[in-house]
Amino acid sequence: MKRLILKLLPRSLVFKLKHAKETLNVYFIRFFAANSVLSSIYFAFFSNKFAREHRAVLLGRLEYHHSLKQIKQSCVLLRRNIHRLEKGLIMQPRRPVFAEAYIQETVTCYSDAIKSSELCHEEKQWATDVLAEFFSVTGNSTILDKARERFTSLAQTGKRSSVPYPHSALPASPLNYDELIQLFRRRRSVRWYQEKAIPAELIRQAVTAASLAPSACNRQPYQFYVVNNAEKAAKVAECAMGTAGFSHNIPCIVAVVGDLSAYPAERDRHVIYIDGGLAAMQFMLACETLGLSSCPINWPDIEQREKMLSAQLGLEYHQRIIMLIAVGYAESEGGIPFSQKKTDKLLVKDII
Ligand SMILES: Cc1cc2nc3c(=O)[nH]c(=O)nc-3n(C[C@H](O)[C@H](O)[C@H](O)COP(=O)(O)O)c2cc1C
Repeated sequence: MKRLILKLLPRSLVFKLKHAKETLNVYFIRFFAANSVLSSIYFAFFSNKFAREHRAVLLGRLEYHHSLKQIKQSCVLLRRNIHRLEKGLIMQPRRPVFAEAYIQETVTCYSDAIKSSELCHEEKQWATDVLAEFFSVTGNSTILDKARERFTSLAQTGKRSSVPYPHSALPASPLNYDELIQLFRRRRSVRWYQEKAIPAELIRQAVTAASLAPSACNRQPYQFYVVNNAEKAAKVAECAMGTAGFSHNIPCIVAVVGDLSAYPAERDRHVIYIDGGLAAMQFMLACETLGLSSCPINWPDIEQREKMLSAQLGLEYHQRIIMLIAVGYAESEGGIPFSQKKTDKLLVKDII
């Protein structure tokens, strides 16, 4: 109805009406932006644009607690606490007694995790080795002694390979700055691809590279949903807004999906986007080294689109799409926008 009326009106009038609406909107928003109480009123009564995120965060918190009772391939609490222990182990100077606040919780979680037939071998190994190292180097206290006794009754420990090591044991960088810059310049957003299938193994390799990205408390709260089929990839791409004109040409599309069940508290709701973004960058750079090109695609937070794509990918409500990435072999004559980058002069603010 609204569209029909707009079509019947003269175009100049439509533009004037739109402009008037935008001006009014700015006054309206200015009022509600005055303080946090008013902005909460705005989102409670005048905009439901964050509604899906609100519910997803709450459902994520519930799923976090549920996931601790039914441990699957990976356990977020175990990952977080083992990471905290590792940080304690490398502390300078290292305290003889530390982690008393969370060691019982960690050993309980470890005990539940190793009972799970699904827990992946690498995570179990890491947790076992770090806990063994922790209990072998820490001193005595009532809390630590109790936890130590419990851990010893649970774990069979051998040579500890997944434990902290000195910086000198890291491999040297195989690239200098110029070589790295060349790789960065080589990665451009490519929107035109050859009609050529992508070997699944290459995507796996790129995901392995992505998995090496840093993540908050080493939780890695994301997964890569790979649609390596041109017909299905086009359908996925069409759910996003930024693929008009080239969605039909994408041979493979990857959805980077964050999982809000990685956190017990709202304060960390943004971390899926940071961790997922860092991993996505490494994925795209790895693609270049494997002869593939890519294009990140924005995922707008729009209820209808989210529902559509979540259904196609089989996502839970607490799983949020961070971005899509088109992947393929570049068409050699396909255009690349120049996309002038900001210089360091604009990007650096020296605080003196
Ligand atoms: C989060 C994100 C969302 C993007 N969304 C789209 C998109 O929807 N459609 C598109 O064609 N390009 C998209 N791009 C690609 C950007 O347009 C591109 O990265 C930018 O213009 C710089 O060009 P370059 O990637 O070739 O360096 C997106 C990039 C990022 C990082």
